[in-house]
Amino acid sequence: MEQIRNQLRAIKSLAGPFPSFHVEEASERPYELFLEWLGGAIEHGVHEPHAMTLSTIDHDGTPDARVLILKDVDERGWYFASSLESRKGQQIACNPGVALTFYWPGLGRQIRIRGKAVSMAEELSAQDFLNRGAVARAIALIGKQSAILDKREDFEEAFEQQMNRISQTPDVVAPSWTLYRVEAQEVEFWQGNEERKHKRLRYRLDGEKWIKNLLWA
Ligand SMILES: Cc1cc2nc3c(=O)[nH]c(=O)nc-3n(C[C@H](O)[C@H](O)[C@H](O)COP(=O)(O)O)c2cc1C
Repeated sequence: MEQIRNQLRAIKSLAGPFPSFHVEEASERPYELFLEWLGGAIEHGVHEPHAMTLSTIDHDGTPDARVLILKDVDERGWYFASSLESRKGQQIACNPGVALTFYWPGLGRQIRIRGKAVSMAEELSAQDFLNRGAVARAIALIGKQSAILDKREDFEEAFEQQMNRISQTPDVVAPSWTLYRVEAQEVEFWQGNEERKHKRLRYRLDGEKWIKNLLWA
């Protein structure tokens, strides 16, 4: 126990150097600043900059979280895709309130988004599905995401069946595959600083207008 405690304490966090964050020049709308920061992360070579944590709430109020891939961003929100039947799908159906979290260590940047997840039209979900590789499509076609798997062989068998199905009908779509959009109410940009003088800028939606505030670190 003491060993792991000491090892943890010896690991440096937020060592920098990090980019500066000119909060006074920040865009009026958070998705524009998000695109700017995402572009910076891609340019900087951040590993999987499109990986984000999606937090949801269970029917009894217990939180849950997992990592997903960001599929798109526009002025209306942040997009991800998953199965409607999965645990997260059921949680969202019961309570659409969600949060997204990005962390890009090399840049000392964290972005937190709070809002509600809205499922997109069937055609858009189908389009997203058909853009996935054959293996990912076969797995989604099995359609049991988050259900209990009795034994690994059951998966292999179901997988083979769905791969055959795809080769016979390449445009088959998993009916449960859903593209969701997270419509934000609040977006916070956090810029770490080597001297621990971190900067936080929060956008909150007030009617149609985004209100910006600095937050204490
Ligand atoms: C880097 C990474 C990317 C992932 N991307 C997705 C994704 O885009 N969609 C998805 O359904 N699951 C994705 N997963 C798997 C999820 O983390 C999770 O295991 C799965 O969706 C089941 O979650 P649930 O039981 O909470 O519904 C990803 C996992 C990792 C580590």
